[in-house]
Amino acid sequence: MNLSVTVSAPGKFVILGEHSVVYGKPALALAMDMRFTMHISESSSFMVNGLPATPSTMSPHMKFLSDLHGGNPLSIRIESRVPSGSGLGSSAALSAAYAGAVRSLNGLSCSKESIAKDAYEAEYAAQGRGSPMDTSASVNGGGIALNVPYKPEDFLWRIEKNERVWDVSRIDVPKMTFVIGNTGIRAATGPLVEKVKNYMDSSKFARDIIDEMGDVTLDGMKAIKERDITELGALMTYDHELLSILGVSCPELDKLVKAALPTSYGAKLTGSGGGGCMVALTDQPEKTADAIEAHGGTAYIVSTSVPGVTIKKNEDTKHRRQKRNNRS
Ligand code: PMV
Repeated sequence: MNLSVTVSAPGKFVILGEHSVVYGKPALALAMDMRFTMHISESSSFMVNGLPATPSTMSPHMKFLSDLHGGNPLSIRIESRVPSGSGLGSSAALSAAYAGAVRSLNGLSCSKESIAKDAYEAEYAAQGRGSPMDTSASVNGGGIALNVPYKPEDFLWRIEKNERVWDVSRIDVPKMTFVIGNTGIRAATGPLVEKVKNYMDSSKFARDIIDEMGDVTLDGMKAIKERDITELGALMTYDHELLSILGVSCPELDKLVKAALPTSYGAKLTGSGGGGCMVALTDQPEKTADAIEAHGGTAYIVSTSVPGVTIKKNEDTKHRRQKRNNRS
């Protein structure tokens, strides 16, 4: 009988700190109610959505994770509500879900920390650089912060790479409403992260902007603690200006941000930029969504406080384990 699992992991958006987090600066991200789901069973050969796996169906993240832990070939069926190349963490959700599945099927620890670490390594291998923000948000769910002061009970895990260290902690956020606006322009994360790196390598000004973004995120954390939504919104709008200076916005994102602002506390691009999505913090979500749609975007009013990665062993798997346990 084949082992099989259903795994699911959420997409995310970034309140503050994308790009600067790659350099160890603080960041704040929330998981949201768009999920990436995979139904996976052991098989005689790798299959994705009923087709033999090829480099285009099997993403580099999946390949990395399959190679990392070995195990039998898998038949994988994917259902995703996270648009890809849109700054909403689709590849992180894929990595989180698949890391959980591979760990579960191989009888390894499925602690969130172990899944988050594997998922980050997969993202890093696929992208060539990057932070553990997206993968940690997807694995943990809810709200997370990186490299901000935290209470000991909120600490989740530490991830280190090439002399950079990220301490990931959970954050408690007040009830807030966010509207995502999708430009419909797909942009891969890797080249945008590379673009910022090249700018940083050649310009002190760019390095100062990254430092400033780190300070803005710390101010944002203070605003969240003080439940000061007006201040948080203003910081998001300012952060969008800093991201634009870094060269990761585009006219379509600027247009949607501008359209959202009259009905929002603040708005900014979210994720790597260059296209993809913006996010607005608002208490008039319908009006903000209408304004985004009137300017050519697709709007989603999102829910947060959602669970992170979930792993459900299917009946066959459970029975087989139980039988094995009864025998031993
Ligand atoms: O565009 P996304 O969803 O892959 O988010 C990327 C976030 C960055 O900060 C730009 C990169 C990273 O690895 O943190």
